[in-house]
Amino acid sequence: MKKIIIAGNWKMNLLQAEVIQLMSGIVKHVKAQRLPNNLKIVCSPVYPYLQTAQSLIPEALKSSLQLAAQNCSEQNPGAFTGEVNPAMLKDVSCKYVIIGHSERRQYQKEDHQLLAAKTKNAIQSGLQVIFCCGEQLKERQQDQQFNIVQQQLEESIFDLHPDLLSKVAIAYEPVWAIGTGETATPEQANEMHQFIRELIHQNFSTEIADNTSILYGGSMKPANAEALLAQPDIDGGLIGGAALQVESFTGIIDIALQLKPTA
Ligand code: PGA
Repeated sequence: MKKIIIAGNWKMNLLQAEVIQLMSGIVKHVKAQRLPNNLKIVCSPVYPYLQTAQSLIPEALKSSLQLAAQNCSEQNPGAFTGEVNPAMLKDVSCKYVIIGHSERRQYQKEDHQLLAAKTKNAIQSGLQVIFCCGEQLKERQQDQQFNIVQQQLEESIFDLHPDLLSKVAIAYEPVWAIGTGETATPEQANEMHQFIRELIHQNFSTEIADNTSILYGGSMKPANAEALLAQPDIDGGLIGGAALQVESFTGIIDIALQLKPTA
């Protein structure tokens, strides 16, 4: 059954004591629930606190509550000062890595080719990838959103071997909705998710399209999560601001628990 993923993108926030506080709150909340096997909760502290966060996850929750890094290198170990290799992330019990976030595309100038190399390297090292795509405001105003997303996917992940694509969840994050308080309407989001699923169907197979988790990201919070997660093609969320507080993040988890099919 398709995975439902509620992932917090913590970005460059929180010092160690705050990581401990947030992670402990999430653990406490999640421990009290009966979590279905297909629901994955993902948190993404910055590199230096991955192990701190991991140490707070009790054994019984390790298959449900997992960690993502926010970036990784496309290179194998070697002379690359300042870089972190996916094998090293795996080594500190990371399960996922976020690749292609619009902030990295914008500020670090990461292009399609580099994102393709990072994705491949991450999967070959045993990580799962949350691959982000999404158009900017200007592109939506020009009705270019479908072309932009198609290009982002075709140039970075659609030449993966089908077995590797099964390790990728896609996060559709319209750039104009990130951190702005503005969200895509549930219909706008679902329309794009359907389009992405159809592209996977055309490039791979119906089975892979049906099994790929497609998350929505962009100002998701408890107040709008219900309408978004009620959409049939929205398989979870990549959450920034609202993931930094226990109540709002766990509020979204609870909504997913109510709305999404479980197994
Ligand atoms: P936001 O961020 O929820 O604060 O809009 C989402 C993201 O950037 O992944």
